[in-house]
Amino acid sequence: MKRRVTKAIFPVAGLGTRFLPATKSVPKEIMTLVDRPLIQYAIDEARAAGIKEFIFVTSRGKGALEDYFDTAPELENALRKKGKSALLKELKNTNMESGAIAYIRQHRALGLGHAVWCARRLIANEPFAVILTDDVIAAETSCLQQMTEAYAETGGCMVAAMEVPQDKVSSYGVLDIKDDMGAMVSVAGMVEKPDKDKAPSNLAVIGRYILTPHVLQNLSRIKQGSGGEIQLTDAIAEEIKCGRDVFGFRFRGQRFDCGSKAGFLQATVAFGLARDDLRDEFSTYLTEMVALQKAAQ
Ligand code: G1P
Repeated sequence: MKRRVTKAIFPVAGLGTRFLPATKSVPKEIMTLVDRPLIQYAIDEARAAGIKEFIFVTSRGKGALEDYFDTAPELENALRKKGKSALLKELKNTNMESGAIAYIRQHRALGLGHAVWCARRLIANEPFAVILTDDVIAAETSCLQQMTEAYAETGGCMVAAMEVPQDKVSSYGVLDIKDDMGAMVSVAGMVEKPDKDKAPSNLAVIGRYILTPHVLQNLSRIKQGSGGEIQLTDAIAEEIKCGRDVFGFRFRGQRFDCGSKAGFLQATVAFGLARDDLRDEFSTYLTEMVALQKAAQ
C-alpha cells in the first residue's frame, strides 16, 4: 500500500451546542480565531502536509462552510479596484481548486466514526487523514505533516497523541501503550472516554489521524460504543485486534481545545500574540488587564 496521504476527511457535521447561541446560525467551524475561521487553520495544516483532496462531512445548516470555500468575484473585484493586493491574496487563499473539495452529508448524528464512514466511497482503497477542526495545533511544522513524515516510515494507522491530566482522560480516546519509543508509541489498545480510574494511561488521542481503508471496513461492522455513538476509536482499536499496527505520535506543537470556551479563549490570546501586526497593542492590553485584576483582588 502506498504511504503517501493525499485525501483528508473533515468531520464538520456537529451541532456546536457548546457555543450556542452563536452556533444557532453560524457553523462552529466558521468561528474565528483572530481573523480566520477554525476551518481555515485545518485546511492550511492539511495543505502543508500535501493533502490534495478535502472531504467535508457536513449536515444541515452548514451552508456557510460551502460558501466560505467558493470564489467571491464581487469582493475580489472591489479589492482589486482599491489596490488591496495583500487582502486579495488572503482571500484567494480561501478558494479551492475545482474538484479538490467534496461535501458529503451525514444525515443522522451517529458519532465521529459514522461521520468518517459516510466518506468511504470517496476514499476507496488508500490511506487517508482525518482532521478534527476543534483541535487547533500551533506548530513550526504542521502536526499533520509531522505525522505524514513519520507514517512514510511506519505505515499502519497513526493517531496524534498528547499526555493530559488524569482527571481529564474521560474526555478523550486513550491509548494503552505497548512500546514507548519517545515520539512514537506502539499501541496495544484504545478506549474511548474511559472512567478516570479505568484509563490505561493518560496518553490521549488528539484530533489528527492517518488511517488505512481497513478502518472503514471496521466501521461498517462495529456496534455503538461510548455515548451510544459509532466511535472512530473503536474502529481503530479493531485494527490492533486484527494484528495490524497502530501508533500514537507525540507531535511537537501546542494544542488548543477550541471545542471548549476556555480553550477557544486561550487560542485567541495565543494566536493574537503570535501576530506581528497585533502583538504590541494586544500584549500591552493584556498586561494592563492582569494588573487591574490583581489590584482588584
Ligand atoms: C473526539 C474523539 C476522541 C479524541 C478527541 C480529541 O472526541 O472521539 O477520541 O480524543 O476527539 O479532541 P470529541 O472531542 O469529539 O468528543
